Amino acid sequence: MLSNFLPEDFIEEVRIANDITDVISEYISLRPRGRNYFGLCPFHNEKTPSFSVDPQKQLYHCFGCGEGGNVFNFIMAQERLDFVDSVKFLAERKGIPLPGTLNSVQDEEAKRQRQVLYNINRTAAMYYHHNLLSSEGRSALEYLQSRGIDNKTIRTFGLGYSPDSWNSTMNYLLDQGFDERLLIQTGLVVEKDKSTYDRFRNRVMFPIIDYRDRVVGFGGRVMDDSVPKYLNSSESPIFNKSSVLFGLNLAKKQRPIDNLIIVEGYLDVITLYEFGFRNAVASLGTALTHEQAKLLRRYTPNIYIAYDGDIAGQKATARGLDILKDAGCNVRVIMLPKGMDPDDILRKQGIEYFKKLINNAVSLTDFKLEMLRSEYDLNNQEEKVEFATKAAEILIGLENPLERDIYIQKLNTTTGFRPELIYRLIDQLDSRGSRLGLKRKSVGNNRDTTNISKARLRLPANIKAEKHLIRLMTESEEMAKKILSQLDDLEFEDSIHREVIDIIKRLLEKDIEPHPAQILNYVQEHPSRGKITEIFKLEMEYDNVDKYIKDCIDELRRYQLEKRANYLKEQITKMELEGESGSPQYWKLVEELNAINRMNKLGGTGKEEVM
Ligand code: UTP
Ligand code: MN
Repeated sequence: MLSNFLPEDFIEEVRIANDITDVISEYISLRPRGRNYFGLCPFHNEKTPSFSVDPQKQLYHCFGCGEGGNVFNFIMAQERLDFVDSVKFLAERKGIPLPGTLNSVQDEEAKRQRQVLYNINRTAAMYYHHNLLSSEGRSALEYLQSRGIDNKTIRTFGLGYSPDSWNSTMNYLLDQGFDERLLIQTGLVVEKDKSTYDRFRNRVMFPIIDYRDRVVGFGGRVMDDSVPKYLNSSESPIFNKSSVLFGLNLAKKQRPIDNLIIVEGYLDVITLYEFGFRNAVASLGTALTHEQAKLLRRYTPNIYIAYDGDIAGQKATARGLDILKDAGCNVRVIMLPKGMDPDDILRKQGIEYFKKLINNAVSLTDFKLEMLRSEYDLNNQEEKVEFATKAAEILIGLENPLERDIYIQKLNTTTGFRPELIYRLIDQLDSRGSRLGLKRKSVGNNRDTTNISKARLRLPANIKAEKHLIRLMTESEEMAKKILSQLDDLEFEDSIHREVIDIIKRLLEKDIEPHPAQILNYVQEHPSRGKITEIFKLEMEYDNVDKYIKDCIDELRRYQLEKRANYLKEQITKMELEGESGSPQYWKLVEELNAINRMNKLGGTGKEEVM
């Protein structure tokens, strides 16, 4: 069950090095109460703390939403990483080298160099920022103010100014002890014909920070109409335009993240933030990539696109939509007035207007139909037919008949064609498509809606006993061994409990203490992880642990016999109905049932008299 790209003892080393209370404290504020720490759950909305961290067991658990696990699970949920990446993330936090990379000296060296590149960028960002706020940056500051950006936002985004000079930045960074070759690698310094000079001169600087809070590059804007309007860092070992999203470092801090808005420009993200929409990100002047879509999907499936309302913007939107849909996102398009971007709209029309645009955001299908429609003159009969035909092709992709119906009604309104005709057209096109062997796209997801949330029932005694035994086994190796030896061949009823027992057995075979947090290493992506954590956190009261164990095991045994007895009763009744009540097999079953009844005093079966 362990996602096995990393050795188990390495995983455990990383877990032990990262104290769960320290790690979680970096994300939320925790207060001590009793043996635990409490805070507001980062995984659901709440006003009173139901999220607890247990430093002794190295677990967290929220009794509000049921989330729980060890330090890796927390990082998985918080940083949207899979298990392996969460281990790597925490290894890095503690500077523990990854196994495998250990022997590769080259890898280590490359990694160390990347670290220096990040440092250079961070130092440069601070230098630019400082410059902006000094007398040298006056014109740049005035420019930003003329764009309506306030000082607080300037600080939040770390905006800066690159001096009007060919070597100020370079000299500053050399003075800081950075190597010239590495400065060239970051792209901050350009090498040409054996001379070197600053890439960014006299520009307003936008540091590009990745989702892990590292400065990976810069965008620099001129303050007049010269070109290029924006200059970006060149690609480098730490800067890959197609995988970064400007603003994601801030947007991901929103909790919970209901949705994200993709915009085109740096300034759109910044202005949205200033107006309270702290969930916007921008791709860096290039079309959205699959990699970026997947990155977004990790935070939320609900994505809005707000690209410029011009033709180029719409084309980009259409491409982006498909990429996002392929990544599993629910996408809606915020339709912007022609020639305006979110920055323009907020500055000119205000916040309420923009909110309205968000509320009126259209679905993928609506957007496609709208785009299509703008290409045709619907007053021309021929064009109208062509439009309706193309539109019908779009609707084939919709499998939900109700959804189809909505658009058919809309098409009816725009074209005047009767709904029945449009239905027929879709059917015709659809069957033609399947004859040609075209695959129909499935859009409906078969989410199970029958899963009505179950009321919390009182637990049957045997299940409770199983939980308590597991909980006891996590106290120490001796305790676990003692209980296992007494369990004998008794099987746990609950399949999740059986899985936990198997993990404990495997750990014991390797002479490893079955520590609760370590057991969780093996159930990382298990849907019942929260429930398992809950077991580990059970508070138990007993005077004599041996007696307690015996009581639990007796309960399991009683249950097992009861189950066997029920099975026997069923079989016996069946044989009687089938007229086989005289067979030796029948008497064997009756005998066994009576034996159980005598032992267990379960009560009569109605068959005693025949004995
Ligand atoms: P825009 O031209 O829409 O600029 O480019 P903007 O963000 O609205 O900026 P203002 O309002 O004119 O100041 C959108 C994005 O495309 C990239 C930048 O990331 C920019 O934010 N771009 C644009 C470049 O990389 N280079 C350019 O020359 C222009
Ligand atoms: Mn703009």
